[in-house]
Amino acid sequence: MSTRTLVAPRSLAELDLADPRLHAEQDLSEVWRTLRRSEPVHRHRPVGRAPGFWVVTRFADAAEVYLDTDRFSSAGGNVLATLLQGGDSASGVMAAVTDGSRHRDLRSVLLKAFSPRVLTGVVQAVEQNSRELVNAALDQEVCDFAVDVAGKLPITVICDLLGVPVEDREFLLGLTKTALSSDTADQTPFEIWQARNDILSYFGKLAEERRRNPGTDAVSVLVTGTVGGQPLTQDEVVANCYSLILGGDETSRLSMIGAVLAFTEHPDQWAALKSGAVTVESAADEVLRWTTPAIHFGRTATQDSTLNGVRIAKGEIVTVWNASANRDEARFPDPDRFDLGRTPNKHLSFGHGPHYCVGAYLGKAEITAMLTALRDQVAAIEPAGPALPIYSNMLSGYRSLPVRLSR
Ligand code: HEM
Repeated sequence: MSTRTLVAPRSLAELDLADPRLHAEQDLSEVWRTLRRSEPVHRHRPVGRAPGFWVVTRFADAAEVYLDTDRFSSAGGNVLATLLQGGDSASGVMAAVTDGSRHRDLRSVLLKAFSPRVLTGVVQAVEQNSRELVNAALDQEVCDFAVDVAGKLPITVICDLLGVPVEDREFLLGLTKTALSSDTADQTPFEIWQARNDILSYFGKLAEERRRNPGTDAVSVLVTGTVGGQPLTQDEVVANCYSLILGGDETSRLSMIGAVLAFTEHPDQWAALKSGAVTVESAADEVLRWTTPAIHFGRTATQDSTLNGVRIAKGEIVTVWNASANRDEARFPDPDRFDLGRTPNKHLSFGHGPHYCVGAYLGKAEITAMLTALRDQVAAIEPAGPALPIYSNMLSGYRSLPVRLSR
């Protein structure tokens, strides 16, 4: 059972969407519904020293912001944490916070690390790992699905892809769990900064090692990759490794955990998966829409323009709430129904346009592999304790999910 309480829309003017506690402890579905209906491009008040920002909640408007990179730039940061602080130090070196032709260059090198040749082997390993992890969980009377199963799969996959030695993986998982979210409400900015710095210096050393001894892993692809005949700089290599490890671990993990929670709350959909009434591929897309692990992304307006009739001035921050857009009734019939057979199901969980997630194929393959292992090996899933949320304003999901799995 989730422990979130429903927020009434009348409190809209007092909400602080940048506060991680809000997303962890409260259910914002009524707030999103009201905004989509009556104020789809909403002005969020300034809080403390942080400036105000636009809150975009409808699917069509969100897609427009993602697509129009000339009008809405990622260079000032692409999440509230950096946008409200006035910028992202990785701008111009990390693909996710770079615009235009340099973004295309960096992205083309990143995509080489995701070539079908590399991914075929990775996906086979994901399928085998999923089966083994589910099997081990079945041997426990009660397992914490978030820790014992989902906590072990995506980190293994992304570390395999990056060629991170096995003995360093536990250390990196601790850091990735701290860098974008927290298990508690009282994490300090220093702890977050420290975790991010530790990840960067770890990949700085790994990159130097791979420069001397290149292999076939993604770090080697980045250190040997060239754009217009020029190699990537050390800063570019390290920043993009950072983005791969963070992008590659937490989002997929949160989706799988959310899937299992949803199965305990919607037994008819678990039965549909078990019986083969729905395919795992369509189930994976609905899990992605339903859980929406990355709840918002953001941009900076490069010029005065209008969005859905609302004037947005040059320099203003525009946030796009995937969590709302993925439940937009104008896009998804009966959007609050968890329906594994939903088609079409073109959600925004991986974003849209030029910055569309480079790991989308891999992320979906991981969720599909986990759903397949659950369907084939598990007869029943019963809740065995409360689901405990993570604290973040950009990711949503659970850090603990005690369940009883039976064969
Ligand atoms: C970009 C979500 C898995 C790496 C994005 C964006 C979203 C997203 C919404 C767009 C950001 C923006 O427009 O500013 C997700 C979700 C995942 C997932 C929900 C899993 C369920 C992965 C994986 C990797 C990854 C497995 C790497 C192995 C990246 C990178 C970008 C990105 C590098 C930046 C792309 C660019 O700016 O061109 N992701 N992601 N993601 N993702 Fe993912």
